[in-house]
Amino acid sequence: MPQPPSDQRPSDRCAVLAGLGTCLPERTVTNDDLAERLDTSHEWIHGRTGIASRRIAAEGTSTGDLATAAAGNALASAGRTSCDLVVVATTTPDRACPATAPAVARALGLSGAAAFDLAAVCSGFVYALSTASAMIAAGTCRSALVIGADLYSTITDPDDRGTAIIFGDGAGAVFLESGSRTDPGAVLHHDLGSDGDGRDLITVAPGERYLSMRGREVYVQAVPGMTDSALRVLKGAGWDAEDVDAFVGHQANIRILASVAKRLGLPEERVITNIEEVGNTAAASIPLALAHGVREGRVTRGDRLLLTAFGGGLTWGSTALTWSGAQPVHSVRG
Ligand code: UT7
Repeated sequence: MPQPPSDQRPSDRCAVLAGLGTCLPERTVTNDDLAERLDTSHEWIHGRTGIASRRIAAEGTSTGDLATAAAGNALASAGRTSCDLVVVATTTPDRACPATAPAVARALGLSGAAAFDLAAVCSGFVYALSTASAMIAAGTCRSALVIGADLYSTITDPDDRGTAIIFGDGAGAVFLESGSRTDPGAVLHHDLGSDGDGRDLITVAPGERYLSMRGREVYVQAVPGMTDSALRVLKGAGWDAEDVDAFVGHQANIRILASVAKRLGLPEERVITNIEEVGNTAAASIPLALAHGVREGRVTRGDRLLLTAFGGGLTWGSTALTWSGAQPVHSVRG
């Protein structure tokens, strides 16, 4: 019997990441700007988190606007104009109903594509990547835009120094298509998990407008939670920690990233971080950091990448993939 092409065999077929796009708001808010109205300082914020500034969207800009721009950039990065599936991972959808994704698909000229939102807070991008990759591997769709987009400025109390110093706005997206596990860009393995006992640690409580976070308690769980998830995904991918060329973790706190890397035995230079310039952008964090790593020349074609996230839920997740060499496309919005 003649064999079908390798990318058609179910056991070999997998999602391949072929494009990467990002979008950040134009306005930069520095730690000194925040210290003018909050009881805090640049030294405290930078020393405790690694953050120097973040981007905050203009009044009237929506999560869907940033998501559409990032996804359009991901399509351009991949050199594609069509797509079967659009997934928006977000905690700040434009409306409670309907989902943001169908409007994003329409704005991109992709009406007819399957489109839905996914809520897994700061782990949302990794959850969405896993979901869309599984749909491609199963043959449910042939291509997908996976978007992480959040406007935490809309749910952050500007007077709460425990959260206002951390979060920023932004969006990042990847374009996935069907390929084989040996292709550069192959999305190889996932680990996902949750612990609802921690649901009150990061929450917008019913009836409340703003997010509250018990930061220290999250921190204490994030380090072992991310390390264990990373170890599980490495095992599933058949990699040792030293095989990892770049660790792209959720950018919540530079000290969390350093602790996880240390526990994994990864040298500092393999840790990709852009937290200094953008803060914690929730579901957008990993694709924004990935684009930063590619632009800096620290992620190159064929590299083995480890993505690991942790956040509200509590939720966590990791992905093992190789890098396709896609060049990120970026844009700025008001
Ligand atoms: O993205 C979702 C996942 N989220 C995370 O992973 C967040 C994880 N948590 C963190 O990154 C850290 O816990 C924070 C950055 C939020 C806080 O840092 P910390 O080292 O855990 O500080 P802390 O909350 O234990 O507070 C230490 C001290 C306290 O003062 P006392 O009680 O020691 O006198 C706070 O009141 O720092 C004080 N403090 C501040 N001081 C200046 C808290 N926030 C500030 C601030 N400026 N903004």
